[in-house]
Order: sequence, then C-alpha cells, then structure tokens
Amino acid sequence: MTSSLAAAGNHPVYDYKVVRQFSVMTVVWGIVGMAVGVLIAAQLVWPGLNDIWAPYTNFGRLRPLHTNAVIFAFGGCALFATSYYVVQRTCQAPLFGGWLVPFTFWGWQLVIVSAAITLPLGITTTKEYAELEWPISILITIVWVAYAIVFFGTIAKRKISHIYVANWFFGAFILAVALLHVVNNVYVPVTLWKSYSVYSGTTDAMIQWWYGHNAVGFFLTAGFLGIMYYFVPKQAERPIYSYQLSIVHFWALISIYVWAGAHHLHYTSLPDWAQSLGMVMSLILLAPSWGGMINGVMTLSGAWHKLRTDPTLRFLVVSLSFYGLTTFEGPMMSIKTVNALSHNTDWTIGHVHAGALGWVAMISIGAMYHLLPILFGRKQMYSIKWINVHFWLSTVGIVLYIVAMWVNGIMQGLMWRAFNEDGTLTYTFVESVQASYPGYVVRFVGGAIFLLGMLLMAWNLWRTATVPEPANESGEAKA
Ligand code: HEM
Ligand code: HEM
Repeated sequence: MTSSLAAAGNHPVYDYKVVRQFSVMTVVWGIVGMAVGVLIAAQLVWPGLNDIWAPYTNFGRLRPLHTNAVIFAFGGCALFATSYYVVQRTCQAPLFGGWLVPFTFWGWQLVIVSAAITLPLGITTTKEYAELEWPISILITIVWVAYAIVFFGTIAKRKISHIYVANWFFGAFILAVALLHVVNNVYVPVTLWKSYSVYSGTTDAMIQWWYGHNAVGFFLTAGFLGIMYYFVPKQAERPIYSYQLSIVHFWALISIYVWAGAHHLHYTSLPDWAQSLGMVMSLILLAPSWGGMINGVMTLSGAWHKLRTDPTLRFLVVSLSFYGLTTFEGPMMSIKTVNALSHNTDWTIGHVHAGALGWVAMISIGAMYHLLPILFGRKQMYSIKWINVHFWLSTVGIVLYIVAMWVNGIMQGLMWRAFNEDGTLTYTFVESVQASYPGYVVRFVGGAIFLLGMLLMAWNLWRTATVPEPANESGEAKA
C-alpha cells in the first residue's frame, strides 16, 4: 500500500502510513502490556511465579513494565495514531514535518523497547510512571518535541480557519505532557544508568504527584477526550451535542486538573493546606469531567438505535460510562476521610482500572475499529461479529476486575482500621492478605478475559489487512 491513500477529488493527500503504523502497534503493545498485567495478576494469586527467572521477572520489576507498556506503549500509540489522523482530516492538510513524522514513530518504539529491556534489569528512577532512566528520558523529550512540531505545524498550515475541538484536547495533552515530563525528570546522573532527582523530601513527592496526577489528567484523559470528540460523532454520524459545552469544559478541565495532584499525598508531611487544596480541586473536577461525558453521550441523541447493531459504537459509548464512573469515584476518593479508608488498598487499583480498561482501553479499541478498515482500504473490519464478541469479553472482564478490587479494597481498609477494646489490632496484616485471595483470583480471570478480547482484535486486524474482498452482508468477508 502506498504511504498515502489517494485523495478523492479536491482534498489533499493525507499521510496515512504513520497512522497505520501507530494503529497496528496499538494492538500489538496492548496485547503485550495486558499480558504482563495478567502475569502480575497471576503472581499475586500464585506467588511462586515470582521465582521463575528471578529477579528479572519478579513482581517489583514487571509491575512498572506493565504500567509503562499499557500507558505509554498502548495508550501512547493510540494517541499518536488518532491525533495524526484527526489533525489532518480536520485541518484539511497533510502532516507537517517531513522526516520528523517517521522519526516520531521509530523514536517512540525505541523508547518502548528501551523500557522493556531496562525495567526487568532493575534499572529505574523509582518514580512511579517516570521510571525510565535519564538517557531514555532525554530520548522521550526529543521525540515529544518532534511530535509537537508535527502536530502544531499541521495546525499552522490548515486550510480552514476553524480549529476543531478534538485538536484543542490533543494540543493541550502534548503541551502539558512536555511540561510535566521535563519538570519531573530533572536528574543528576551519576552513571549511565543511575541518576538522582534534584528534588528532595516533600518537594520531590509533591513534584512527583503533580506529574503523576497530570499524567492521568492529560495523558489518560485530555488526549482520549480528543479521541472522543472526533470518533464518537463520526461513528454515530451525528454532530457533537454541544460545541459551547466542549469549550467550557475544556478550559475548566485543564485549569483545574493541575491543582489536584496533592490528593495522592493525604496524611503525609505535605502541608495540610496543600492537601485540602488538592481535595477541593478534585471535587470541583467532577463538573468539567462530567461535562465531557455528557457531551459525548448526548451526541447519540437520535442515534441510540445504532447501539443495537454497531459494536464499535458500543465500545465508544460504554467507555464514556466508565469515564463518568471513574471521574465520580476519583473525587470521592480524594475526600480525606474516604481516602483514609481507600489509600493503599485495592480500591485504588479498582479505580485505576475502571479508568484504564473502561475508559482508556475501550475508547482506544473503538477508535481503532473505526480507523483500521480505512487505513487498510476496506469498507469495514473483516468480522463485525467478532467485534461484538470482543465488546462482551471486554465488558465482562472489566466488571470482574473492578468489582473484585472494590470488594477487596473496602475489606482491606476496614480490616486494617479495626481495633479491639484494649487498643490492639483486630487483624494481622497477613489475615487481610488471606482474605483478599478470592478477589485476586477473580481479577486474574477478568484480566485474562479482557486479554482474550485483544487477541480476537489482533486476529480480526490480520484478516482485515490480508483478506482483500469487502465484507458481505453476514459481516464476514469471503476468504
Ligand atoms: C475527576 C477525576 C479524578 C479524580 C479526582 C481522581 C482521584 C484519584 C484519587 C483520590 C486517587 C487515590 C490516590 C491515593 O489514595 O493514593 C486516584 C488514583 C489514581 N487514579 Fe484517579 N481520579 C480521577 C480520574 C481518573 C481517571 C479518569 C483515571 C484513568 C484513566 C485515573 C487514574 C488513576 C491512577 C492511575 C491512580 C493511581 C495512582 C497511583 O497511586 O499510582 N483517575 N485518583
Ligand atoms: C488485561 C488487563 C490488565 C490486567 C490484568 C492488569 C493488571 C494489573 C495488576 C495486577 C496491577 C498491580 C496491582 C497491584 O499492585 O496490586 C496493575 C497495576 C496498574 N495497571 Fe493494570 N492491568 C490491565 C490493564 C491495564 C491498562 C489497559 C492500563 C492503562 C491504560 C493499566 C494501568 C495500570 C496502572 C496505572 C497500574 C498501577 C496502579 C497503581 O499504582 O495504583 N492496566 N495492573
């Protein structure tokens, strides 16, 4: 296939090659990252698994491998693919930047491979979601600057004056991630693979969680809202519900998110006023978050019947429900008294995966099912039936995962704070671990079901790419 699909008539020739590369790698890294997730879930059920190829594959080393693979490899590739696609289509201009475009693809893959090698070797800064050591961190900065040049360069040479709202979200995500990454990664290198943060003590913690929370806010939220604003209206074939709402909730979201990070540091040595500020800002954050969710869901007004027949749309809409759920739960968990119960328990893990699997993964999967046939010059995916099966596997998998973690989390929180009349603890810590065991089994099963759906997606992608005929009425292309 040529690097660009031919332009039909009067619109420019878009660069789809890089979009296709990032889209395929979204599926590949999704499978890799989630397989590592299933493996570490299995290690929590059968601790003996930690000893196989120890120390390279023990839980402590594979956990950051999982988080980096799912957030930056899977989520990152989905964001590169969709932002490059959307910015070209909505600006009516091919990508700006020449060789910088393929450089962002290969550079990002190099970052991912470097992470996959260094993390199992135990090379880490130890800062969560920013574990990669300084040479890789510099590579990330270079690739990200190239990404910004390509994205904003394309906006600058747009053929229409209006900048569609999806690009506002993608743009905010690119700028904010650059700022967060640079500020949180100021290190003093001592060897090629070891460095120390220039910040210390409470300052280090505050900078780290300003970064960590805004990685959620801008990487896992703003970028994916960009996806939502293009792919939900496209798939539903309806205009976005309210353009005014999209502008209001954009500015509210980006200006409030940056103040909320302190909710990760409740009851620490961080000044009390900063903790309370984080809590209040988190509560306010419910409003702009739900503004986005409502705008997406209401776009389906008049098109609800499409959910009966279109499993791609179902992925996109159910992702919005999980977004609404997670952004209601998050503000509740940021209330200090609630956080006293939830912090350090599996409740946080349940919240994380309601957002990560329910929102981030589902909207990415929906966008990919919309994009992949276009990128491979097909009318639709090879099998619509298997998209439907994938949808149900994902939904069942997520529900098993998060319900197990909610039950475990609340139980752990209650067991840890239970006191006898004489002031001694009612339960030992290990009793709470034993009580969590059934939940870990259910989480492992839920995760494995979700992963199975991703494998179906890979098969469907393979068939879409290699079986040339357009699909027939039964939804299956002829072999
Ligand atoms: C209004 C929006 C949200 C608020 C106010 C919020 C709030 C919170 C709170 C209070 C915690 C627990 C902190 C702790 O006890 O240590 C947390 C953890 C977390 N949340 Fe959210 N959340 C929101 C949305 C989301 C979304 C949409 C996602 C994912 C897509 C997400 C991902 C995470 C992650 C990854 C953590 C774990 C951080 C860690 O300790 O490693 N959150 N969030
Ligand atoms: C098959 C799917 C998945 C499985 C089985 C899975 C499993 C796990 C497990 C077992 C943990 C460690 C929990 C612990 O330390 O107690 C974890 C952590 C985490 N996972 Fe996943 N995961 C999956 C998908 C994802 C996806 C798609 C994302 C993001 C887009 C994600 C983001 C995270 C994050 C951010 C953490 C760290 C949470 C924290 O520190 O609070 N996971 N996952």
